[in-house]
Amino acid sequence: MIGVSLLLPSGTMFPFYSCCRAGLLFLLLLTLAVKEAWQAEEKTCDLIGEKDKESEKELAVLKKLSPLFGQSFESTVGQGSDSYTYKFRVCREVGSNNSGAGLVQINLKTKEETIIGRINETHIFNGSDWIMLTYKGGDEYGSHCGKEQRRAVVMISCNKNTIGGNFLPVSEERGKVQECFYLFEMDSSLACAPEDSHLSVGSILLITFASLVAVYFIGGFLYQRLVVGAKGMEQFPHLAFWQDLGNLVADGCDFVCRSKPRNVPAAYRGVGDDQLGEESEERDDHLLPM
Ligand SMILES: *[C@@H]1O[C@H](CO)[C@@H](O)[C@H](O)[C@H]1NC(C)=O
Ligand SMILES: *[C@@H]1O[C@H](CO)[C@@H](O)[C@H](O)[C@H]1NC(C)=O
Repeated sequence: MIGVSLLLPSGTMFPFYSCCRAGLLFLLLLTLAVKEAWQAEEKTCDLIGEKDKESEKELAVLKKLSPLFGQSFESTVGQGSDSYTYKFRVCREVGSNNSGAGLVQINLKTKEETIIGRINETHIFNGSDWIMLTYKGGDEYGSHCGKEQRRAVVMISCNKNTIGGNFLPVSEERGKVQECFYLFEMDSSLACAPEDSHLSVGSILLITFASLVAVYFIGGFLYQRLVVGAKGMEQFPHLAFWQDLGNLVADGCDFVCRSKPRNVPAAYRGVGDDQLGEESEERDDHLLPM
């Protein structure tokens, strides 16, 4: 109450101060909100160049990787005092100390944490079944590599079985006078070439035809069984027609493919001519309507 009375001189000035304070408060809140939003936006991969000058290709590959943004990857290698844990995130900070780290190395013995690369210096490109992600701007080397900043190179290979996994350190190159790097690899289905689901016209026609045939037989079968009340073979739709067609095809086959005459013992034909004659006439009948 004391504070309030001190800040608010009595009298006619009151409405002015009140209005001013509300305005100030509003401005303050607005600044905070904008700052918050700006910071939230800040903590993702930053490519080289200003916002609208960034490479379209890099943006496209980053977008492809966006399902991985929430995940963390970790791998421990080495033995004894030489064991390290590597922590990696795609376009998100590792740890919560606002360091901007995207990949860190932690010495398990000394607990010393070294930033290998930062997400605000991201470079990325892809091939047909791999993506190469580089974080630059890590902590400086003590004596190697011309005391330049460390950099992490992560090779992401296509693997249809995982969205992201098998994160592993591969090697550390620090024998060069500069341009040294830590190399990592990992698997992800996101690195795979988009599947070509394009069907040719022929296969579409074939699928349509097969579906129609299936619908015809299943529908016909149900109709015969449930509506007509047929049993056994009779349940086939248009049974007589299909039997006729079958015979016709068989005859055609017989006619085209057979190399020897069918009724080989033609000499004996005379014996049962009366019965056989009828039969052969019947066979010919099927050919006539065509
Ligand atoms: C990235 O962030 C680090 C620390 O937050 C800063 O020192 C560095 O200048 C930034 N790099 C770029 C390219 O903005
Ligand atoms: C890289 O990814 C893009 C986007 O998915 C793709 O169109 C392009 O073909 C890929 N590059 C290569 C060399 O395959």
